[in-house]
Amino acid sequence: MHLREPEHRPFEHTPAARRSRVAEWKVGEQRLYLGDCLELLPRLADNVVDVVVTSPPYNLGIAYRSYEDSLPRTEYLDWMGRVAAELRRVLKADGSLFLNVGSTNADPWVAADVAETFRKHFVLQNHIIWVKSISIGDDTVGHFKPINSRRFLNHSHEAIYHFTTEGRTEVDRLAVGVPFKDKSNIARWGHVRDKRCAGDVWFIPYRTVQSKAQKFDHPAGYPVELAERCIRLHGVEKAKVLDPFAGTGTTLVAAAILGCQGLGFELDEEYARTAAARLKSL
Ligand SMILES: C[S@@+](CC[C@H](N)C(=O)[O-])C[C@H]1O[C@@H](n2cnc3c(N)ncnc32)[C@H](O)[C@@H]1O
Repeated sequence: MHLREPEHRPFEHTPAARRSRVAEWKVGEQRLYLGDCLELLPRLADNVVDVVVTSPPYNLGIAYRSYEDSLPRTEYLDWMGRVAAELRRVLKADGSLFLNVGSTNADPWVAADVAETFRKHFVLQNHIIWVKSISIGDDTVGHFKPINSRRFLNHSHEAIYHFTTEGRTEVDRLAVGVPFKDKSNIARWGHVRDKRCAGDVWFIPYRTVQSKAQKFDHPAGYPVELAERCIRLHGVEKAKVLDPFAGTGTTLVAAAILGCQGLGFELDEEYARTAAARLKSL
């Protein structure tokens, strides 16, 4: 998965050209480029990516360092549509795109609207719910951002849309499976091992942190385990993994842990540097 040279490289040796050259980090099998994914994606060849795991800005006014997360809705969805078209082009026919998008009580439709935009280019194969916090009986496990409201419940889940090109991509359900609770079901249903599909509700809590620094000073990262699960579910060994909105490099960290080749794009230099540092510290 290499980026092609830009077609036109005029004035290559001028200071302006040097300034506009894309910064790049290579750590083991992981590559990270600083820049706008819509400028970098066209430099990837067609059908080269096995798995995309990504979380774009949700347009909810999140305070990122560089990106302004509050576009007019139509402009935002138009942008998402252009990203979706590029991702469709670079994804292999049997590839998987895992798109994590959240919403809020104030804007409950944004995740569905983004999914609808991607629907023009992909088939929705699985709709996974990422549960960050859950109460069972009187016990609560996990964290969420509490809201002060007389109308709304605390928001403790987000969507992970599993898009594929035709809706027929085979996945390795047992790679992210769980042991049978009732072991007699193994023989009764003709299973060869003590593993069953874990379903499409994934409880992946954030780990407890005391400071923003422990969240890598990024307002919207997801847990490494989330990206790991997506890659393992796709089930291709040494998969080529892409994250066009790499943030602090969580997807690439997961790719590195799983022995995959990862490629990430990130607009903000500080986040990209953090991502590179995370990868180096593995
Ligand atoms: C939801 S965050 C991704 C967080 C990431 N999953 C992590 O765990 O760190 C979205 C990221 O997209 C970046 N971004 C926004 N516009 C971009 C663009 N046009 N190209 C590349 N990255 C962009 C933002 O700076 C932000 O870090």
